[in-house]
Amino acid sequence: MSSVAGPRLSALRFPATPTTPTPDGQRAALLADPGFGRVFSDHVAVASWSAERGWHDDAVRGAEPLVLHPAAAVLHYAQEIFEGLKAYRQPDGSVALFRPDLNAARFARSARRLSLPELPPEDFLTAVTELVRLDAAWVPDPPATLYLRPYTVATEAFLGVRPATEARFAVLASPAGPYFSGREVGLTLWIDPELSRAAPGGTGDAKCGGNYAAGLAAQAVAREHACDQVLFLDAVAHRWLEESGTMNVLLVTADGELVTPPLGTILDGVTRRSVLEIAAGHGLTPVERPVSVEELREGARTGAITEVFAAGTAAVISPIVRFREPAGEFTVGGGEPGPRTLALRAELVDLQFGRVPDPRGWRVPVV
Ligand SMILES: Cc1ncc(COP(=O)(O)O)c(C=O)c1O
Repeated sequence: MSSVAGPRLSALRFPATPTTPTPDGQRAALLADPGFGRVFSDHVAVASWSAERGWHDDAVRGAEPLVLHPAAAVLHYAQEIFEGLKAYRQPDGSVALFRPDLNAARFARSARRLSLPELPPEDFLTAVTELVRLDAAWVPDPPATLYLRPYTVATEAFLGVRPATEARFAVLASPAGPYFSGREVGLTLWIDPELSRAAPGGTGDAKCGGNYAAGLAAQAVAREHACDQVLFLDAVAHRWLEESGTMNVLLVTADGELVTPPLGTILDGVTRRSVLEIAAGHGLTPVERPVSVEELREGARTGAITEVFAAGTAAVISPIVRFREPAGEFTVGGGEPGPRTLALRAELVDLQFGRVPDPRGWRVPVV
């Protein structure tokens, strides 16, 4: 795969052109109960790319409808990538990002896989930072956050199948309510017997829209079985655990291991990585190895597997307490969220919201 980033003269600055802000009272009302992905801040960071000019026209400006030619490549061949990260209000009122360098690097990897222009990681960080600075008033108080959605779409109007020569990058900011409210109950996952998310050699390790479109049918089947999410198995043997729809999956064993499927056809999650890195502090040994559905079923029955949880930016860590499959269902850890899961989540959330020291330098202040 070759990079199609084109000529590059200087780093992008994303200069701000502020628009009339939403009145304070209206913003406060929206921030009181934003839900997820429905409310948007006043501005967007944008940049355009063409094969001749490289990246140009970078700015942070008022959010406006995106005008595309009906032949724009993204509409036909799904040449699109995105990211998801959050800005966290800190105890002193400042705002920090959490390991945004990992999102920036993953965005560049996804671009290479989808033959889109690579946005240099430093430009990705500038775009996100400048947007959060201008829309800092949109960062809610904990436990809510400002969810950030960078994406690149192929905009060239051309119906042939080849990498587009024009693309647009943008970052949206959307205040997001706490994922958890009220009593902790734990998720039920549907182990789908036939639908797969990703195959070896495919795009499973890229964050591209097509992966999610392909996962919607399995998600619908999960809902029909009264499950919260799907647990995808590998596409070849239909035997090995991969990940959930928008989260990586990790297991705690009775002998103190934190086991998770290896990278390859799954997303290299920032939360997954972070949990593996803090595991030792919780008396757990991180292990990346294949886990079969038989091992999961049997381990849940015998108690060799004591806890299972999902990890991702949106929900941080969600306990998984039950699995359903065509043959029946089984629970893990007596159907209750486990102590290791809750302790790992507490540490991560405290790190993100600046409530504990940050020895690894994961918090990046922006305001
Ligand atoms: C398919 C998939 N797996 C895993 C994750 C978790 O990744 P992260 O922790 O970087 O949010 C996500 C969310 O981005 C996802 O969409």
